[in-house]
Order: sequence, then structure tokens, then C-alpha cells
Amino acid sequence: MSQKIFIANWKMQLSPSEAIKTAKSFVKQFKTFKGTAVVCPDFLSLTSVSKIFKDTPLLLGAQDLAAFERGAYTGEISALDLAALNAKYVLIGHSERRSYLQETDKLLAAKIRMALAQKIKPVLCVGENAAEKKQGREAAVIKAQLKGALNYLSNNGVRSLLIAYEPIWAIGTGLNCNPEKALNVKNTILELCKRAGLKKTPILYGGSVTAENAADFLVPGGFDGLLVGGASLNAKSFGKIVKS
Ligand code: PGA
Repeated sequence: MSQKIFIANWKMQLSPSEAIKTAKSFVKQFKTFKGTAVVCPDFLSLTSVSKIFKDTPLLLGAQDLAAFERGAYTGEISALDLAALNAKYVLIGHSERRSYLQETDKLLAAKIRMALAQKIKPVLCVGENAAEKKQGREAAVIKAQLKGALNYLSNNGVRSLLIAYEPIWAIGTGLNCNPEKALNVKNTILELCKRAGLKKTPILYGGSVTAENAADFLVPGGFDGLLVGGASLNAKSFGKIVKS
């Protein structure tokens, strides 16, 4: 897996007009870019950002999607409509959704199914919180978080998924995970994926990634890409991360 994948998660940080402005500055910054750079704006900005990214090297992603295809599901967004907007990636089970919106592993497996049915690449987010880290329970927590999705995938012969390892205590805190420790967790994840019959599972790191620490996670044998929150709100700083 040589080509790295860089995903910008704008969360709910930008108003629609700020998202348009930022997307335009991304287009300038990434004019000659050859790799995989994905931007996930909030739902309200997806349509305008999709238009701005048309015929550029930048790819569109979503921060979530409905676990249902279409119907009476107030407030939900269908994978069908994300695909029509040209979304190529979708974040599934970001820790903020798992904790603030009580998303369960079963629900996340259904969301993965919806994404795959529309050929949108699901990026399943996993990671331990500070208390779990203190107890040295990283591997057990991640195993439990992956179980539902991996069972679903192996039972349905599905072989494609991306996983983002995002320690919760590292998200938005400025305290990135020690790269060597993160790599140990990456290897645990890879082992679990292999056991579930998944062959090539790109594994990304996320949690206080900056232009200064990005390269530490992308060493040979390291992560296959990065999921970036705060430092992705600015085209120049995300551009620097992508050049790491
Ligand atoms: P952060 O967020 O880079 O601001 O820590 C990462 C994420 O939540 O995906």
C-alpha cells in the first residue's frame, strides 16, 4: 500500500460560507496534487463543496450516513444521495458520534453496508479513551469496537474497509499518540482484520496530527494515511501534512 490517504474532517467547525471559502483555497493548494486527499465537510456544505471540487484532484467525503437506504427517517442522509454528490469516502463511528450520539457497533455495521452498496469507501473509526489507556486496555477496546463490523464483513464476503485508529484522548487535545505505540495498535488491528479475512485494509492514524508530527506516523511500515481534524481547516496546513 504505497499511496497514502489523507482525510480532512471539518466536523461542524465551518459555516456554509466558510466551507465554500475553505474549499476554494484547498483547490488552489491542491491544483497539481497527485495522491488521495479527501475532504469531509458537514452535510449542509456537501453540495457546494462537491461543485467546487469537480474536475480537481480533491475527493469528497461525508462525516456520517444513514443506516437506512431511503424512507421515513427524519434528519437522516441517504448513501444514495451522498453517492449522487460524488462522495467517495464516509467516516463511520467517529468517537464523537459514538459518545455524544450513542452509536452502537450494530448500527455502524449497517452504515458500512449502506456505504459499500453505493461504492463509498467506509472509514471505520476506533480508539480507546483516557481511562482505558491508563488501564492498558487499548487492544481489548479496539477488538470490541471492530467485532461488529468485521463479523458483518466476513459473513457477507465483503473485503473492503478502511480503519482509522483515533485514540479519543488524542483528538483535539494537542497530545498526539506516541507513533511507536500507535504502530503497535495498528498491528493489532491488522491482525484482527486478517483473521476476519480482510486482506488489504488501509489503516489511518488520527488525533492531533499536525504538519510537525505527520511524518512520524508515515514512516515505512507505518500508517497508510492520516485523518486530520483541527489542522485540516486550513489549506496550507493540510497541504503541509500531505507533503510529509
Ligand atoms: P484532531 O481531530 O486532528 O483535531 O485531533 C481528529 C479527528 O477527530 O478526526
